[in-house]
Amino acid sequence: MGEKVYYITTPIYYVNDVPHIGNAYTTIVSDALARHQRQRGRGVLFATGTDEHAIKVAEAAQEAGLTPKEFVDKLAPAFMDVWKSLHIKYDDFVRTTEPRHIAVVQKAFEILRDKGDIYKGVYEGWYCVPDETFFRESELIDGKCPNPECRRSVQWVQEENYYFKLSAYQDKLLDYIEANPDFLQPEFRKNEVVSFIKQGLQDVSVTRANRGWGIPVPGEPEKVIYVWFDALLNYITVAGWNSDERKFNEIWPADIQLMGKDIFVRFHSTLWPAMLMGLGIEPPKALFGHGFWSIEGEKISKSKGNAISPAALAADLAAQSGAKLDVAVDAIRYFVMREAPFGVDADFSIAALKGRFNSDLANDLGNLLNRTLSMMARYLDQIVPEPAAVASELKELVESTHREVEDAFDRFQFNRALEAIWQLVGAGNRYLEDQAPWRLHKEGKSGELATVLYSTLEVARIVTVMIAPFMPEAAKEMWRQLGITEPLEKQTWAGAGAWGKLAPGTKVEAAEPIFPRIEEKARKEDPAPVEKEHITYDEFKKLELRIAEVIEAERVPKADKLLKLTVSLGDEQRTIVAGVAQWYEPDVLIGKKIVLLANLEPATIRGVQSQGMLLAADIEGRAVILTPDSDVPAGSKIR
Ligand code: MSP
Repeated sequence: MGEKVYYITTPIYYVNDVPHIGNAYTTIVSDALARHQRQRGRGVLFATGTDEHAIKVAEAAQEAGLTPKEFVDKLAPAFMDVWKSLHIKYDDFVRTTEPRHIAVVQKAFEILRDKGDIYKGVYEGWYCVPDETFFRESELIDGKCPNPECRRSVQWVQEENYYFKLSAYQDKLLDYIEANPDFLQPEFRKNEVVSFIKQGLQDVSVTRANRGWGIPVPGEPEKVIYVWFDALLNYITVAGWNSDERKFNEIWPADIQLMGKDIFVRFHSTLWPAMLMGLGIEPPKALFGHGFWSIEGEKISKSKGNAISPAALAADLAAQSGAKLDVAVDAIRYFVMREAPFGVDADFSIAALKGRFNSDLANDLGNLLNRTLSMMARYLDQIVPEPAAVASELKELVESTHREVEDAFDRFQFNRALEAIWQLVGAGNRYLEDQAPWRLHKEGKSGELATVLYSTLEVARIVTVMIAPFMPEAAKEMWRQLGITEPLEKQTWAGAGAWGKLAPGTKVEAAEPIFPRIEEKARKEDPAPVEKEHITYDEFKKLELRIAEVIEAERVPKADKLLKLTVSLGDEQRTIVAGVAQWYEPDVLIGKKIVLLANLEPATIRGVQSQGMLLAADIEGRAVILTPDSDVPAGSKIR
């Protein structure tokens, strides 16, 4: 038998509508996890799919004027397209209408019926169609569905049906949960499950009258199998149960099954392991119930019109920033995994998305690569140098980050993994500031310059491999600019922890910003400033004057008066355009401290975004740049 395959599952989605950001979340996270585990050299099976036999799917089909089968055949590919557009690389996509799955469901039903775990009775009770769930009278809240995410009307159902003896598994489930501390995660949801089970489990009706949609009960085609009994079994269909024993032994039990909190307690943590126990199959190793997303503080719902598709969000972000669409998609993937710990509820807001785009991606990550590549072009003809020494503080940080990220993935703490990687990005940026390669170059310290630029490139290489599972396409673009010929997909996780793998002699590409900053346009309703001879102190206070250090300087092509300067404000960098090229050579400005009007409305001058204005004295038309008369840290405020 080969090595156990790392098996990851998402829930399979109801095909009544295309996914919104909330249900895309589970799939995005699963994809990042799958990609990371592939880097670790594991054989991975990452499966997702569609849940097609729900009553609400049949209802949606009717509304669309199609038969249920026509409807699902149209929507299932739409799901695949959405996943593709979100850079989801699954290994299997299961549809519950496929013959391989129907065979599994009927077989499982027969086994449980034969052993008496499924028995016939009359079902009388309430049914919630949106949730496809049976409820006891006592469970209803104000006569409505008790699920806090639903609260819709329920229907009275009275049918002869088959029941699954869930009550018989109450103690077995509790024992299993206790003996396997990692089975239900996060911990606080485990407690919810335990108290749900302890309240007493009722047997579950697992068939419905056949109204033309569903998997028929073997030998009794007037009945169909309950959609949850059907859907949960998809996880073993994919693993090859009942068709390929060898495959099944390599894949099952699933290593991690991810889902939202709404389907965690009742279905995945209770019914599902009980069904498996009944079938004599081991439960999955871990189940994780994540939190819910709201949008701008509101519950996501079709009727509110806020069930935004992730693709539309990405298109918007691309338009506003000027980033490529693939990069914008990755920024959304990044955002949802970074913004909140996996497990708790979170809010998706456009302001928060833009904030993270500008600060984490444009400023931190983008700058690290851009600045390094620009200096590589300026000082080293784009050829990776042989370092004169090992930057041991960075090397050590890489090693500890590597351990931390690995551990975070093993505990499904995706935001912690990203935080750790961003510590490393920050350290890379600070190292550049501290080492000031522009000064080393000016002073002719070529050995030190080689060490500094090699080391920042090495941080960029390592960070690129580490973020590839989260942002696969943006990472590919970073990798291209780093000029490393071995493909990114071939990079191993071990390689991401090994300092010094970047080969001297590699030719890097020219810097091209991958995450262009989103600039807020000035508000139209701003009143025109009133001209006055004097200004008040409050008006003066509106000027944000700061000391900035020039890090890079170059001429703006085809503009003999303009220089493009990259300046540091300590914790932030800006690009500005200054009309001083007639009097200053670019190189002499590098390392100089200048006075910057930092809150001037950004403007594009000769195709370059200028984010502030340098102050200079005007001596009969000649500009003399103002500088502080003793050394002042970059970023200092001027009052
Ligand atoms: N078909 C069932 C699952 C069967 S699995 C054997 C189902 N489908 S669903 O399409 O309604 O939901 C799929 C996933 O999306 C679930 O994990 C659910 O928790 C998640 N989410 C739906 N809305 C969500 C948010 N607003 N936020 C986060 N996740 C959300 O349930």
